[in-house]
Amino acid sequence: MSATGPEEITAAALASFDACPDPRTREVMRALTRHLHAFVVDVRLTQREWERAIAVLTETGRITDEHRQEFILWSDALGVSMLVDALAADRPAGATESTVVGPFWAAGSPLRGYGDSISEQPGGDPLWVHGRVLGVSGEPVPGAEIDVWQNAENRLYAVQDPEAPEAHLRGRFLSEEDGGFAFLAIRPTAYPIPADGPVGAMLEATGRHPWRPAHIHVAVRADGYEPVATHVFDADSDYLDSDAVFAVKPSLIKRFERRDPDDPDRPAGVAGPWFSLQTDFVLAPAPVGL
Ligand code: BEZ
Ligand code: FE
Repeated sequence: MSATGPEEITAAALASFDACPDPRTREVMRALTRHLHAFVVDVRLTQREWERAIAVLTETGRITDEHRQEFILWSDALGVSMLVDALAADRPAGATESTVVGPFWAAGSPLRGYGDSISEQPGGDPLWVHGRVLGVSGEPVPGAEIDVWQNAENRLYAVQDPEAPEAHLRGRFLSEEDGGFAFLAIRPTAYPIPADGPVGAMLEATGRHPWRPAHIHVAVRADGYEPVATHVFDADSDYLDSDAVFAVKPSLIKRFERRDPDDPDRPAGVAGPWFSLQTDFVLAPAPVGL
């Protein structure tokens, strides 16, 4: 007999997975179906709204390519990326916390030397970033790779800006024997997530803003340790309390110190006012078996 009432339709859709050979796939598909059906019933989704939802998904696929990932942006803007991160987070106390990677990481950033600048063209207030990569017992981690990327004065990441050199404001560094690293960045600015697609339309329709607080992205990896992708947020930035992608964690907010032009610690090549940021990255041991 065919299912016609709402409850029968849900029961039939759930039963369609009974023969699924992989238990985890069965569990996930049944839960997805159950929650999706409950959502449709809960809001009494109309035919028109269903058509609109299909149009939004179609546009999300159309706008997505190797430079633009609108599906991840939906995940970010609906808090799903940070929920997955929160469920995965089993790092020991003291280890640097993770947060979203976001869409602007690019493979193949140039390997730069201790203290080098990541700027490939002028602009922005110089920011001297330095610290150590450590393990949770305080041991220095030499040879760790520190992959950094950040936005420019015009708010754009190099991958978004056809005018910027490809490697602008990106770089990889290796920690020294004592775990130390240093590089010259610029003070990042708050910026809006890409808002010219379906996610932007949702933000507009729901009265939400697209802004993220100023931050630098850092991904750290070392043999024998669990890799971490994180941010350092500027404590003086706007939007720390209303990040469009819910990615702020209090432990990741740091003070970027204003320094005088004649400060004796001024890094080579810096003229005028500058900022400094001292921040360590603490890695958890790799899970046993990895
Ligand atoms: C970012 O920080 O680069 C980012 C994260 C999530 C969505 C958009 C941008
Ligand atoms: Fe970012």
